[in-house]
Amino acid sequence: MPQRKPFLGAVTAVALTAAAIPAAAADVERGRQAAQTCIACHQADGAGNAALGYPRLDLFAEDYIIQQLQHFKAGHRQNPLMQPFARNLNEQQMADIAAYYGAQQAAVPTPPATDAALLAQGEKLVHQGDWDRHIPACTSCHGPDNRGVGASFPALAGQHASYIESQLQAWRNGTRSHDPLNLMLAVAGRMTDSDIKAAAAYLAAQPAK
Ligand code: HEC
Ligand code: HEC
Repeated sequence: MPQRKPFLGAVTAVALTAAAIPAAAADVERGRQAAQTCIACHQADGAGNAALGYPRLDLFAEDYIIQQLQHFKAGHRQNPLMQPFARNLNEQQMADIAAYYGAQQAAVPTPPATDAALLAQGEKLVHQGDWDRHIPACTSCHGPDNRGVGASFPALAGQHASYIESQLQAWRNGTRSHDPLNLMLAVAGRMTDSDIKAAAAYLAAQPAK
């Protein structure tokens, strides 16, 4: 795969900007308590809510969760539901909650069957990309099973389709930014609505970690 090399360089660059280290080591039990304000939307096991577009959180590396909370707090990710909760957290609470959700394995029902043509379109785009339109395969960064790579490339397999769609739209309409090296800004900007629907439907139907 010719695109491998620059992306590995990206991982190194991203690792250098990792989240600030909190004062004490992260604690899952403290995280469970701090997460009481989160469970109304993300559930105690991190399953989220497919119908309402609340993401699963059990899929991620701890540092990815911390990074996203900081992005909401800083306004790099704009969302009226989520931002007030992120603004209320200090670094210690972010680390504890990330340790808590990172330790969960959510029970998420298999999404309802979608049209086979849409799934086939999504599978092709996710695994092969579309080089005529400069869209790389999602797997080249998100991993061969789309279960994520390290702390910088999040899992997509098993995430709710509604949430995957909303994030790709968020990059296109400017409400999500500051992703490492603008990698996703570039990818999402080249996707059509039909690409987004197809990729999201396919990814949501894949087994999670
Ligand atoms: C009122 C519902 C609600 C509550 C309560 C809530 N969230 Fe969220 N959360 C959301 C929504 C909606 C999104 C998606 C926002 C977007 O589209 O950018 C989100 C996104 C996130 C993400 C980003 C996940 C990803 O895949 O990038 C994290 C991390 C997160 N929430 C953590 C928390 C934590 C920790 C708490 C508690 C302190 C919390 N949330 C409370 C609704 C909520
Ligand atoms: C060049 C590398 C790269 C490629 C190729 C790529 N992504 Fe990403 N993607 C990333 C990175 C890095 C992030 C983390 C963004 C951040 O930290 O805000 C991400 C995040 C995402 C997210 C947000 C996940 C979340 O939980 O918040 C979605 C959705 C996504 N990518 C979908 C896709 C799809 C669909 C494709 C294929 C069409 C794709 N990506 C291809 C690098 C890539």
